[in-house]
Amino acid sequence: MKKIILALDISDIYQAKRIVNQTYQYVDIYKIGPGLFIEYGRSIIDYIIGINKKIFLDLKLYDIPITVQRAVKAAYNLGVFSLTIHASGGEKMMKAVTSVVNRPKIWAVTILTSEATSTEKVLQMVKIANSCDVDGVISSPLEIESIKKQYGKTFNVITPGIRLQNQDNDDQLRVSTPINAIKKGADFIVIGRTILKDKNPIETLKKIYEDIQNLT
Ligand code: C5P
Repeated sequence: MKKIILALDISDIYQAKRIVNQTYQYVDIYKIGPGLFIEYGRSIIDYIIGINKKIFLDLKLYDIPITVQRAVKAAYNLGVFSLTIHASGGEKMMKAVTSVVNRPKIWAVTILTSEATSTEKVLQMVKIANSCDVDGVISSPLEIESIKKQYGKTFNVITPGIRLQNQDNDDQLRVSTPINAIKKGADFIVIGRTILKDKNPIETLKKIYEDIQNLT
């Protein structure tokens, strides 16, 4: 599967569909966050699945176990490929979710890439998430190597906080370039504004995609 996950952080569904149509050669998984989901949930999801692409539903769920479990079942019924929950929701919540038989992949958010933290703190959260059998974790690029070293290749690491060299970090703090994140072992990199705010978004995406291809 292609390693770039494109974050559809766009509030206009027509624009979101246009971006999907322009980028499908370079992307297999599109990330939908609360902004687009709350207003256009089923219609944007059906559209993307209809062109044989996958949905990463990034709702970062954090609630009591039964409530999150119900949301996970609903996401499965929508055809979602992967869904985020907060690892800080704790063991009971994560186990309630991973015990669901028919469910999307569960990726646990450790510490947001917009926050300053230490690798140790992220690793503590990864340890709990891993023991609850989640399929992977969301971390910043700075922690990928340590997570991979401890938990091996099959435990997925998905990293936002991706910026090109000399680019504005916006609200992100723990960042790296796409190539660096892939070299360090990221299974997927999540890219939003680097593409969406670019003057030539498709060319920039193509370049990142080709650079990654050339690594393998
Ligand atoms: O625009 P940018 O590339 O910074 O977007 C990153 C995307 O990844 C956003 O949609 C954000 O919600 C998401 N994300 C994040 N940090 C996390 C988890 C998800 O930035 N820990």
